[in-house]
Amino acid sequence: MASWSAELKLGIAPLDSDHAHIVHLVNELDETIVNHRPRDQVLLVLNDILTASSEHFCREEQFMRRIRFAGLVQHKFDHDALLRELRLVIRAVSAGQRPADRALVDWLHNWFVDHVNNADQQIAVACREQERLTA
Ligand SMILES: [Fe+2]
Repeated sequence: MASWSAELKLGIAPLDSDHAHIVHLVNELDETIVNHRPRDQVLLVLNDILTASSEHFCREEQFMRRIRFAGLVQHKFDHDALLRELRLVIRAVSAGQRPADRALVDWLHNWFVDHVNNADQQIAVACREQERLTA
């Protein structure tokens, strides 16, 4: 079970609350899989994760543009890759070509934790640096 912890916090409220929401949805996915819920229910949660991620990435990319973050292109590339992969996974699960299993939860959980801890933390660092320069 994933948990929202202080170490994942960026100190940028709207992005932090998006991240907490996504972790919550990944936990919901975990529950549906552990409890062997029907595939339709698993797909509902996967689609919620896709929607929440897509909206969140837009918000984060707007934020990066606003602070003129130098790593925007690579960062957006990572976001787009995740969305593409997640759409493929949803299609494969819905066609019964891929099981909705623990590996799926682990993949999503690890992607988000790793992304927040590395890529997103760089935004927080740039943001703090800008605040320092404009203070
Ligand atoms: Fe990000």
